[in-house]
Amino acid sequence: MGDCENSATHVLVTGGAGYIGSHTCVSLLEAGYRVTIVDNFSNAKPSVIDDINSIAGTNVALYTLDLRDKAALERCFDDNKFDAVIHFAGLKAVGESVAKPLEYYDNNLIGTIALLDVMKRSGVKRLVFSSSATVYGVRNPVPFSEEGAELSPINPYGWTKAMIEQILRDLAASDPEWSICLLRYFNPISAHPGGRIGEAPDGVPNNLVPYVADVAAGRREKVYVFGDDYDTPDGTGVRDYLHVVDLAEGHIAALEYAREHTGAEAINLGTGVGYSVLEIIHAYEKACGHAIPYQVTPRRPGDSAFCYADTAKAQRLLGWKAKRGLAEMCEDSWRFAKNLAANTKLYNNT
Ligand code: NAD
Ligand code: UD1
Repeated sequence: MGDCENSATHVLVTGGAGYIGSHTCVSLLEAGYRVTIVDNFSNAKPSVIDDINSIAGTNVALYTLDLRDKAALERCFDDNKFDAVIHFAGLKAVGESVAKPLEYYDNNLIGTIALLDVMKRSGVKRLVFSSSATVYGVRNPVPFSEEGAELSPINPYGWTKAMIEQILRDLAASDPEWSICLLRYFNPISAHPGGRIGEAPDGVPNNLVPYVADVAAGRREKVYVFGDDYDTPDGTGVRDYLHVVDLAEGHIAALEYAREHTGAEAINLGTGVGYSVLEIIHAYEKACGHAIPYQVTPRRPGDSAFCYADTAKAQRLLGWKAKRGLAEMCEDSWRFAKNLAANTKLYNNT
């Protein structure tokens, strides 16, 4: 990571109450940035704001609004002088996007266009955007590299990310003052080491690690392993799991990079190391100290054998490299999962 910016830098964080946004707000505040959050709480609990303030020992400003409410967003920009925006706000569940594509295109695209328009009018032209490794689809060779990849998502959620990336590239091409980082996250997992904020999906988790955490905490009976007949060392799917605090720090590195460079750059944020489903289960067993039952079931449609990042560009441009290994990811995840199970305030914190 480069030199830290001065403490007066004011960052608007859209979706700042969400999983990755809340961790990034904590990292920003701890690094001395001033933070304002915009969130409509469609997928977050208001009490997360208290958690952020309590961890970072400060008070963030909050605007409860939907990005598509442009008049409300304009008022937020009129009230403040932002130096940069980190844009997390969006819907993110792959299966739901297949069932409700219009909702996804409406929320993710229209919300982003409204934000960009208000930023442009206010002269705020530095942006860090949450993209996803999902834009690489299944046709590119692993490790996925930013250079020369053909973006071919296989679901509406992924298309919203690919389309927003294109909008942002076009915007940067239209006006040389824009500085935009398109951060393609691999598989963010785990939680802040304090165990107070983390990922707490409503209902049955779609993703592996929250599901494993639920089984470890006794909330579910066993993990269903989606296929053990892939062409991978143990037959189960291999992914690039990344500690959410490393990811949060990647955003600070991107903010600093964007301060110094114009244009739009797509940058992978991953570790470059892949772990299989069984490796994750076994690492989690070490963290929680007991066996985690699992059962192999057929493959999940749309899943691939391997997904991991070429991390060279992030290192070269941002000077950023993930620091936290799998054991630490599982330990921090487990601490949060235990708190969640023990504390209904954290589990159902409306
Ligand atoms: P999250 O759902 O926890 O956070 C998103 C936040 O945005 C929520 O707090 C939600 O209430 C808010 N929001 C949604 N639509 C909004 C709108 N129209 N106006 C205002 N607020 C709105 O998700 P997350 O896991 O923290 O992901 C953050 C971003 O990173 C998303 O854009 C997601 O697509 C992207 N991403 C996530 C992952 C992952 O595995 N979690 C991987 C790749 C990319
Ligand atoms: C998911 C998203 C993808 C997103 C990525 C990062 C889907 C279909 N894809 O991908 O768009 O970019 O997260 O957030 O949701 N697995 C099991 N049992 C489970 C859950 C998962 O065996 O209960 C396996 C999967 O087959 C896969 C691995 O665990 O091999 C990881 O799955 P998951 O956590 O859902 O992430 P991705 O599939 O990488």
